[in-house]
Amino acid sequence: MSRKKKFTKKIELKKAETKEVLQPKPKSAKETPQLVRGMKDILPAEQPYFEFIRNTLENFAKDYNYEKIDPPILEDTALFVRGTGKYTDIVEKEMFSFLDQGGDNLSLRPEFTPSIARAYINHGMLNLPQPIKLYSTGPVFRHERPQAGRLRQFHQFNYDILGDSHSVLDAEMILMANKIFEKLGLAVSMQINSIGCSSCRDSYKVKLTDYYRSMRSKLCENCKSRLARNALRLLDCKEESCLALRSGAPQILDHLDEDCKNHFTRTLEYLDETNVAYNLNPYLVRGLDYYNRTVFEVWPEEGTSGAQDALAAGGRYDKLVEILGGRPTPAIGFAAGIERVISRLRSLNIVPPAKERGEIFLAQLGESARRKSLILFNDLINQGFGVSASFSKDSIKAQLEVANRLGVKITLIFGQKELLEGTIIVRDMDAGVQEIVDQKKLVGFLKRKLGKEQALT
Ligand code: HAM
Repeated sequence: MSRKKKFTKKIELKKAETKEVLQPKPKSAKETPQLVRGMKDILPAEQPYFEFIRNTLENFAKDYNYEKIDPPILEDTALFVRGTGKYTDIVEKEMFSFLDQGGDNLSLRPEFTPSIARAYINHGMLNLPQPIKLYSTGPVFRHERPQAGRLRQFHQFNYDILGDSHSVLDAEMILMANKIFEKLGLAVSMQINSIGCSSCRDSYKVKLTDYYRSMRSKLCENCKSRLARNALRLLDCKEESCLALRSGAPQILDHLDEDCKNHFTRTLEYLDETNVAYNLNPYLVRGLDYYNRTVFEVWPEEGTSGAQDALAAGGRYDKLVEILGGRPTPAIGFAAGIERVISRLRSLNIVPPAKERGEIFLAQLGESARRKSLILFNDLINQGFGVSASFSKDSIKAQLEVANRLGVKITLIFGQKELLEGTIIVRDMDAGVQEIVDQKKLVGFLKRKLGKEQALT
């Protein structure tokens, strides 16, 4: 069957599957629907990790003058077929694609890069001063076999520079990737390679195919079929039998043309000016079709089995904008996988920095005080104080327990008596002493007590 027919067949199958989904098998009304395989809830306990990583990465983006872009999660399937590459694992096996009610073939994004290139073209960014530096973050979907470090919904943080081919940018990206992990407290190993341009790659692929063909019988089944389509992919196979053959394989660095060689040499020279240690990895080829010249991955320093553990990865993609119908626009970028970074932090017992201590807890006693305390709560927030409360609790003891658990500096106690007298009890939680304050003077009193006179005027 031709590839085109195969693809149409796949879509027809999807159509049938969609119909099936619309008529779910009857289940007991009492049965709780389960999480979809490969997806996970990010519970409150894990949120500080996400916050820590996103904040750190966003600060870097701002320091390095990147601007934020939020492409949609749902895109035309053709964007990834053309952009990511028709014969990549992502497009062949891993996309969540479906036909919508209007018959459009859509996909949940399996990566950001084609969307970034599409947005660059759609919004005429070519006419702005180049290069354009963009960062983006959000969920990504790949229908992979779920295992440690491989989710079907995960989150990426991407940095991309479009509109400049200078090799100093390759070095800047690699340097930034390295510094990010230093800031997060993770020791990493920078893996770098050049895969040249399509013409260097074509002649290299012939040599590589010849080499592997001579030992075809020793290859794993997957690689036997990859051999006919893209011999480069054999270099990142993790099967013992294929790894053993890899060391004798020809290396791409020996097959770069003059321009690609110069670009890579200059990138390494710029990097050598920094203190970033890197490992030249001739087997690093990346699984996405658009890459050319410099490619890199960030691996955790120890206990890594390679690509599967990459914390971040990227490279140059000088042809992608053109492939998607734009004017020739060189580009480079990388993405960090947030869940992988979290699991590495956790395995090393690195915890995100503690949140700032809460300032005020507002406790109330009695129905009328509860009603008034809602307004007081809102007023204090408007004045810029960090306030929490447990309005549904009646007992003062239970409320003070919450205040203690939150570790606030001050608890305000507002009861029937205070309501009638226009006062409020201010309890200093560290000193364990309390005083009665006139409600009209409360804001000024709290500002003085919390040392916020300047900040909150
Ligand atoms: P990628 O290597 O496919 O590159 O993914 C980047 C990072 O996303 C990986 O290094 C890993 O940390 C994380 N990741 C990938 N797949 C999974 C998964 N199934 N579960 C958890 N984490 C995962 C790209 O996506 C390129 N678009 C990066 C890029 C940006 N190139 C240029 N600009």
